[in-house]
Amino acid sequence: MKRTTLTAIAATTTVLLASGSAFAQSAKLKVGLMLPYTGTYAALGNAIENGFKLHLAEQGGKVGGREVEFFKVDDESDPSKATENVGKLVKRDQVDVLIGTVHSGVAMAMAKAAKDSNTLLIVPNAGADAVTGPMCGPNIYRSSFSNWQPGYAMGEVMAKKGIKKAVTITWKYAAGDESVKGFKESFTKGGGEVLKDLTVPFPGVEFQALLTEIAALKPDAVYTFFAGGGAVKFVKDYDAAGLKKSIPLYGAGFITDGTLEAQGASAEGLLTSLHYGDSLTNPKDKSFRLAYAKAYKLQPDVYAVQGYDAAQILGIGLAAVKGDVSKKAEFAAAVEKAKIDSPRGPFSLSKAHNPVQDIYLRQVSGKENKVIGIASKSLADPARGCKS
Ligand code: PHB
Repeated sequence: MKRTTLTAIAATTTVLLASGSAFAQSAKLKVGLMLPYTGTYAALGNAIENGFKLHLAEQGGKVGGREVEFFKVDDESDPSKATENVGKLVKRDQVDVLIGTVHSGVAMAMAKAAKDSNTLLIVPNAGADAVTGPMCGPNIYRSSFSNWQPGYAMGEVMAKKGIKKAVTITWKYAAGDESVKGFKESFTKGGGEVLKDLTVPFPGVEFQALLTEIAALKPDAVYTFFAGGGAVKFVKDYDAAGLKKSIPLYGAGFITDGTLEAQGASAEGLLTSLHYGDSLTNPKDKSFRLAYAKAYKLQPDVYAVQGYDAAQILGIGLAAVKGDVSKKAEFAAAVEKAKIDSPRGPFSLSKAHNPVQDIYLRQVSGKENKVIGIASKSLADPARGCKS
């Protein structure tokens, strides 16, 4: 090659290199939304997306000062398709950040893909304990809860009420198993005994035989984890079987969140534990609820809050690294010291990046999950197995 050509190439390369990082940061941030838009958790996925986009709208359509381009995948809450689905976002679309998902089994596949590719992941619902346990890392965050948290809080409440014998019923997968495990940990510590753990395969809703078994076992109370469409059916079936009056039903708050319209009188009076409720009085929740209702003609639920807070976490981290997602350590340092101004009340993230938060005790009254107390103050997941 001639000297002049080489010089020209060198000059071009220098210009490209010099402008490389500035270009990367002024281009749109690629956000991959992997959520369920069909199936028993479809409403949850939509609420998360709504909440996420509401925060962006409040920031002039940006997050951390960057414009956003969305890439969407319907994960169908199907773990068998999860690796392929997350691959579409990571490999094909080359997103800068993954937001998802609802289902714990799918979220674990996302966390693995995020780890393998060093992609930023913010989980806006799935409680899989492993995500902020053995799979924790500087690029992995959760804006929601661990499955252990509401379960553990409710076990304490029920033991303190003097309930001695309980039966548990849930879906047979990580979320149900871990919610029940958290419940049993504190319930048995408080002197309670679990007579039997009952399960149905996810996302099945064949509850009849198990309701008959509960009636025969005659526990003092039942602890449950169901959510979305399955939760609607379970609460109605429990009532229709005549159990509601004789054996009080308690649960992680998902059993009555975003579901009250469809559950009607069958849910009235139920006591649940969750990190959000419908009658909070903090100013952030007031403005959030007004804005959400205006934008979507819907009342928000816990899933909308978690979507909104996923965007807040992303915004805090991005602002600290001036939009450069490759600076994982600086991103983490900023988020770890932040107090997130959530509609649930302010919270911070643990070292493992799971919210340290109040778990409220709520009671269904009409179409609301009324907060009647705090089941567990500033509850931190134990982050078992997290080594970072
Ligand atoms: C989960 O799979 O972790 C999960 C799903 C729905 C909920 C809560 C947790 O409402």
